[in-house]
Amino acid sequence: MICIFLGPPGSGKGTQAKKLMDKRGWPQLSTGDMLRSAISKGTQLGVAAKGFMDRGALVPDDVVIGLIAERIQAADCSKGFILDGFPRTIPQAEALDRMLGEAGRKVDWAVLFEIPDADLVRRLSGRRTCLNCGAMYHVDTLRPQKADVCDKCASKLVQRDDDRPEVIQKRLAVYHSQTAPLADYYRNQGKLKLLDATQGFDAVTEAVEKALR
Ligand code: AP5
Repeated sequence: MICIFLGPPGSGKGTQAKKLMDKRGWPQLSTGDMLRSAISKGTQLGVAAKGFMDRGALVPDDVVIGLIAERIQAADCSKGFILDGFPRTIPQAEALDRMLGEAGRKVDWAVLFEIPDADLVRRLSGRRTCLNCGAMYHVDTLRPQKADVCDKCASKLVQRDDDRPEVIQKRLAVYHSQTAPLADYYRNQGKLKLLDATQGFDAVTEAVEKALR
């Protein structure tokens, strides 16, 4: 199964992709995580990407397409994978179709996480992420047992640089102008599944399972 989690920043794509990965064993391919890892290692790619990410803009298409092209060839992707945060533009979606087609593969489903912007601002401004293992928390809805400490690995929890209010607004605007048109792209291919992402964690997990059944 090759499935895409589409949706605005903070809609819960990463949370649900991690759950599905644990349950089904399909790796979660998150371009955001790949870029953040490049930034923390100080690679040339990371240095180039940081400026775009810190101001809430998209990293250029050729950079993220290159990352995904390499990643999907890895052995752990042979039975399927979940794309979280990619594609984000029509040229990225077209490139994905091309590279999968060359390998005799295709996207099965694109699941769109639907949620109003006001909910997203609350979710993103309260999000805390583990610096070490990437586990996610929320200051109101998913608190760690000990403040600012990860339950899983006891590392420090931090707020992402792009979860500041002014950057959140920019990311939402970018989503509506550049990424939202992908819904029609996959609708026209008969692959779009809509999901109510305003529900609680477990209800969304059930809805994801149902969409992929
Ligand atoms: P990326 O890391 O992909 O960020 P995003 O798409 O903006 O998505 P988020 O990670 O912010 O949100 P999410 O939907 O995963 O929600 P989450 O599960 O964390 O991208 C970051 C940047 O990298 C981009 O701005 C861009 O610069 C660059 N980039 C990445 N990919 C790119 C690409 N393809 N092309 C170009 N540039 C690219 O949940 C959010 C919070 O809500 C958490 O605190 C969570 O606990 C909480 N929550 C989740 N579900 C629920 C629920 N059901 N109920 C209550 N709270 C919930």
